[in-house]
Amino acid sequence: DPVKKDYDLSQSLDTSFGLRQGLTSYGDQHFSLFLRKVFIKALGYSEDALSRPIIGIINTGSGFNPCHGNAPQLIEAAKRGIHLNGGIAIDFPTISVHESFSHPTSMFLRNLMSMDTEEMIKAQPVDACIMIGGCDKTVPAQIMGGISANKPVLPLITGPMMPGSQRGKRIGACTDCRNNWASYRAGNIDMEEIMEVNEELAPTIGTCGVMGTASTMACITAALGLIPLQGATAPAVSAARMRIAEQTGANAVAAAKAQRTPQALLSAESFYNAAIVLQAIGGSTNAMVHLMAIVNRHPLLSGNFKLENLDIIGRTTPLLVDLKPSGDNYMTDFHNAGGMTCLLNRLRPLLYLNAKTLSGETLGEVLDRTPFRDFEYARTIIRPITDPLYPCSSLAVVRGNIAPNGAVMKASASKDKRLRHHRAKAVVFENSHDLALRIDDPNLEVTADSILVLKGIGPIGNPGMPEAGMIPIPRKLAMQGVTDMLRISDGRMSGTAGGTILLHVSPESGIPDSPFGVVQTGDEIDFQLDSRKIELLISDEELQRRIAERKEKLMNSKDGEQPSLWVQRQTRRGYRGLYERTVNQAHEGADFDFLTAAGPAQ
Ligand code: FES
Ligand code: MG
Repeated sequence: DPVKKDYDLSQSLDTSFGLRQGLTSYGDQHFSLFLRKVFIKALGYSEDALSRPIIGIINTGSGFNPCHGNAPQLIEAAKRGIHLNGGIAIDFPTISVHESFSHPTSMFLRNLMSMDTEEMIKAQPVDACIMIGGCDKTVPAQIMGGISANKPVLPLITGPMMPGSQRGKRIGACTDCRNNWASYRAGNIDMEEIMEVNEELAPTIGTCGVMGTASTMACITAALGLIPLQGATAPAVSAARMRIAEQTGANAVAAAKAQRTPQALLSAESFYNAAIVLQAIGGSTNAMVHLMAIVNRHPLLSGNFKLENLDIIGRTTPLLVDLKPSGDNYMTDFHNAGGMTCLLNRLRPLLYLNAKTLSGETLGEVLDRTPFRDFEYARTIIRPITDPLYPCSSLAVVRGNIAPNGAVMKASASKDKRLRHHRAKAVVFENSHDLALRIDDPNLEVTADSILVLKGIGPIGNPGMPEAGMIPIPRKLAMQGVTDMLRISDGRMSGTAGGTILLHVSPESGIPDSPFGVVQTGDEIDFQLDSRKIELLISDEELQRRIAERKEKLMNSKDGEQPSLWVQRQTRRGYRGLYERTVNQAHEGADFDFLTAAGPAQ
């Protein structure tokens, strides 16, 4: 009698499957199991169903999240894969985060989503868990939470949207959102046309169809060995996407049986592979923050794999994939050209083929058994390693006295190559508000050679590190035809944007002893991309004097004065207070310090 066996034999409580996991809530383990069965049976499950490996499916669908609009179909297909392989599927919700509906920023909510993911995986008796995600911050949030929970986790990417069509032109979110809006503002297209564009930029559900952050993270997830190779690129609305979901269900049952946990699976080699892919696709700078956050959740890698590793890998990795915003094409083209199967085959001489994957095989073994056929079209979208789009270092990490912990640049997206080695005077904006007030002022003292500096948009600064790093060219210069200037900030920019733009300066100006916080208009700055240097040309004594003076002002408000922002943050309520008091810096991943593997113990 299976029921009797469950209740009587403490031995059966030790097996890893099903409802027996984590039975500590009511003291008596047998009574706890008895109670669990009482309640889950209310949903109609049989003893047989409940004796199987339980595979959780995290549902992040929401009426505000078109990027996850196929979640119901993905759940159905994943369940099919689970049930065909002898598991039982149980879906449950977590927070859903979409770029456009996440005030103040989706980055602000990423860590909240990672906590929700981690805690619900730990709280519920799942033997493995499929995590449905896709929009920019959701995949990193889920991998971060999954690594910390350390049960077998299987990302299931929602997939890119299809491109739209407007007056015979293919268009797609969100590189073309920016281009078309700029044309409308410049009077090059009229109201009727911009409304047509508005209808077609996101013509189906799914994630943005260019190499923005969502696509970048999907490719990185494949490089880490966590999803089937096709799973990075198959369109959200395709039959292929549903088959990937079914396969993910099957993989989840196998991963549950083998107890393939992310901490055991992921190694330094996995992250080197992720960095190689990031560089080869000319991925989003945002992914550098996410990768650091992910790696710092891993107990063995935290602190050992640094931002510099991404730069070192970049020096020998060419840019191969020709997608917007660096190139011309869309994710559907990348998929049709062979997607990650083709790309990883091209990158094979550079990859760490011994890295493990979720299937239990090494990456090399996966590539060996995956059919790959090269053809002319594939070579135009995914260039051979001998004919790259850009020779190396599409993403670079620089340092210097105003960025002692680093700053990053998407060098392949720099328009004016002169600016990659540039020495000039700074025009400084203290925050986004200051920028909005003065950038288009005809009296602003600025030339095409000036270096535009924007402070106050780091992880704490705004808060949530908004994508405001693509500082607009001052109108009077834009009207003279200036299209690129050297721009520096402690914020991020959208993965779909470009220019000679240095981002993620760490430590950010929001921190009282930040050297970046003391840069002043008129200071000279020297930037050398080749030697990865960014220097404020003042003496060390002067720099230290300025820092001390500013720190004193920020931390000790005088009687009768409004307390400084820094002081206000120490007593703020709610999630925002938690965020501002505990978020770490961009080079560490902008995670909460207490969630990292190097942070406090359980
Ligand atoms: Fe979700 Fe772009 S808005 S991926
Ligand atoms: Mg984005």
